[in-house]
Amino acid sequence: MSLESAIARLARATPAFQPGHVWLAGAGPGNAGSLTLDVIAAISAADAIVYDALVDATVLDAARQGVELHFAGKRGGRVSAAQDDITALLIALARKQRRVLRLKGGDPYVFGRGGEEALALARSGVPFRILPGVTSAFGALASAGIPATMRGLNKAIILATGHAAGEEEDLDWAALAATGQPIVVYMGLRNLGRITAALLAGGLRDSTPAAIIMAATTPDERVLVSTLGLIAGEAEAQGFAAPALIVIGDIVSMRAELVELERLVRSA
Ligand SMILES: C[S@@+](CC[C@H](N)C(=O)[O-])C[C@H]1O[C@@H](n2cnc3c(N)ncnc32)[C@H](O)[C@@H]1O
Repeated sequence: MSLESAIARLARATPAFQPGHVWLAGAGPGNAGSLTLDVIAAISAADAIVYDALVDATVLDAARQGVELHFAGKRGGRVSAAQDDITALLIALARKQRRVLRLKGGDPYVFGRGGEEALALARSGVPFRILPGVTSAFGALASAGIPATMRGLNKAIILATGHAAGEEEDLDWAALAATGQPIVVYMGLRNLGRITAALLAGGLRDSTPAAIIMAATTPDERVLVSTLGLIAGEAEAQGFAAPALIVIGDIVSMRAELVELERLVRSA
């Protein structure tokens, strides 16, 4: 069976997109290959798409001709649209009886303000649906060859945001360190020095394996493997930039073995 007919056959089970409805969807970490079938179907059926900066432009190639595109992210120094303006736009488009797709990077309910948008839609009486996406933490770990869980190494994994590190409403990094479980930090690169210092003060060793995965799953993906003590300096020296995830914990040490074994299998 061709790829097209396989997709067409599977897409028959996707929900119907009604005019006047808003779907909040996750486009995954960047690579179009991570899109779910429901999200592909929604992109092709939408009358209006409101998308974020982390949504790769190639994903929008699946939209139908004449679709209304609204960029709602921050890119190249442009200021991001205010959250209230974005929700107002979604509601206004729905009231004009458009099929409105709100497309976000990763998963809409993971550090994506999807919850706030869903609440605003519900309070305004706009019907909505959530289409999950692969959140960047799990896409990035898999793409970089780091297992999110590994028997014998971890029984939990922590997803944290680093955007407020060092500020009043910051997380209790020492409490996270005390769990002994791996931590994946979203939006943490700018505060990497503060985060590593807080984790070290919380009792993690200098030598704890740590990695940064930048632009995961895209052709620009870069991975830095280091230790908690050294990673902030190395990331800066090597020009690591957003979007990036920081991974701290023993799961990082699995990468060397897995990548080497994979290389040997491929070359056999
Ligand atoms: C506002 S959050 C959005 C998270 C998204 N909803 C998700 O589920 O992945 C943006 C952060 O996600 C992470 N991120 C998103 N895409 C990424 C990618 N392709 N590679 C590395 N990090 C990524 C970065 O930490 C970035 O600063």
